[in-house]
Amino acid sequence: MLILPAASLVYLIVGGGDLFNTARHSCLSDFYYGTYGQENVFIASQGCFNQLDLSSTRPTVLPLGPRPWDDSLLIWLNRVAVDNSIASQFDHAELTDFFGGLVASAESQEAAGQQVFGVEEAHPDIVVDSPYMKPNNAFLKLSPRLLPKFEEILPRFWKYTILPETPFSMIPVPEPAVDRVRKILDSVKFNPVVASLVNNISVPQMQQDIRFLTGEDPKSEIVTRHSFSDGIKIAANWIKGVIDGTGASCELKPFLPGFGPNIVCSYTPTVETNETILLSAHYDSRGSFGNVRAPGGDDDGSGTTAIIAIARTVARKGVSFKKNVQLCLFAGEEQGLYGSRAYARELRAQNANLTLMIQADMLAYHVPGEPPQLGLPDLIGTTEVTQLVANLSAIYSPELKVGFTPACCSDHQSFHEQGFPASQVFERAGPIADPMYHNSGDLSDRPGYDLEQVKSIAKVQFATLLHSAGFELPESDD
Ligand SMILES: *[C@@H]1O[C@H](CO)[C@@H](O)[C@H](O)[C@H]1NC(C)=O
Ligand SMILES: *[C@@H]1O[C@H](CO)[C@@H](O)[C@H](O)[C@H]1NC(C)=O
Ligand SMILES: *[C@@H]1O[C@H](CO)[C@@H](O)[C@H](O)[C@H]1NC(C)=O
Ligand SMILES: *[C@@H]1O[C@H](CO)[C@@H](O)[C@H](O)[C@H]1NC(C)=O
Ligand SMILES: [Zn+2]
Repeated sequence: MLILPAASLVYLIVGGGDLFNTARHSCLSDFYYGTYGQENVFIASQGCFNQLDLSSTRPTVLPLGPRPWDDSLLIWLNRVAVDNSIASQFDHAELTDFFGGLVASAESQEAAGQQVFGVEEAHPDIVVDSPYMKPNNAFLKLSPRLLPKFEEILPRFWKYTILPETPFSMIPVPEPAVDRVRKILDSVKFNPVVASLVNNISVPQMQQDIRFLTGEDPKSEIVTRHSFSDGIKIAANWIKGVIDGTGASCELKPFLPGFGPNIVCSYTPTVETNETILLSAHYDSRGSFGNVRAPGGDDDGSGTTAIIAIARTVARKGVSFKKNVQLCLFAGEEQGLYGSRAYARELRAQNANLTLMIQADMLAYHVPGEPPQLGLPDLIGTTEVTQLVANLSAIYSPELKVGFTPACCSDHQSFHEQGFPASQVFERAGPIADPMYHNSGDLSDRPGYDLEQVKSIAKVQFATLLHSAGFELPESDD
């Protein structure tokens, strides 16, 4: 009998929390590609697949064919949790149209004699009849060449992630790291000095900063902060300059050709330690189909402005931190947490001593008439960090109504995946309700855009930093 060599088929395996737990104790742990909303994604070899007993977890399994698959990117698509008030116009048909649109676009470009996007090429590259297409997620293969086109026609309420070339390690946050957060939590009580520092955040200054970032300020040359644009480079240099000016030392860190860089700003500690507290936001943005503008006033100019406001207050008040403090502004968030994943992996490789990190993504919008709010992640993140943020919010920003949000998947996920304690702050105790989400109209001067809410949430982030890092003030300051 002729024995054929086993074809090196690989399988996409997708499932919820049960699958994640099963995976931890099987060969699947070597094939983890991330968690997206409720779904955990694995791409397993045939050898591993054959050993698995997944009957109790009932995952979705899709053979992907033999590896390697040319240079195709594997793209995971995730429908963002949006409020009914803005979701009604965007149903699942949109995604069907989107896949259809990809083919139509290929055909029209071919008719125009352009070879960039030939239909014969589109079919093998893009699994138009992808068997994996669900109400809230989908999966496809894409040639890297087609990425800009793909992004242009991607429906607004879908986020995509380019799956990494190599799997993640499944690194849980170690118990001693969680314990350290618990200790901070246990020690938290109202501190009048912290209150006066966090209250010093300036709303008029935040307004100037956000208007510069969106290009609403006529002196700003920024038209867009899309990751692939020139505008993001202008923004990067400007942000670096501003935060450098507050006593930090900022580095522009490129992570992938074609993308704007990450911005990593560090304050030197007053005590010798490698313990580090990290606050972050993403400064890239996404606009509307056919429009070159991606002003990202809320997403995530608001989080970026909050980080800048904290830095400006540190300088104004002469704060120095006992532990290491990093303020980071990531790029490539809209392409699937690209920048933060690169940086979190770098910190893991260095065995960095990260006490906790908090990502600020979309802080400004609430439905007119709703109270100011603080949304905390219901799924992704470290419960103890989220609890710490909630408790500090009750102390320093009692005006905020605190609750959970299903809006998921911002840069804190990258750190959580690498086993670092992490959480997120968001504008709403519920799903996304900003009608200008992923829209070229995402400016700061519009109804519902509330810089007082940004200040309230920035106060919570800043208070978490002050309580976790410890601080000193100049003696003469009153
Ligand atoms: C945090 O807040 C909760 C709810 O108010 C409270 O039950 C808990 O004791 C607080 N934890 C600490 C450590 O202060
Ligand atoms: C912040 O503190 C400075 C003095 O250190 C003061 O001049 C300024 O008015 C304060 N701003 C706010 C918003 O409290
Ligand atoms: C951080 O400092 C501790 C003690 O001071 C040391 O044991 C540890 O190796 C250091 N970690 C790194 C990554 O340098
Ligand atoms: C982190 O810093 C603390 C305090 O210095 C130290 O006890 C601990 O060993 C450090 N952990 C790592 C991973 O370096
Ligand atoms: Zn965002």
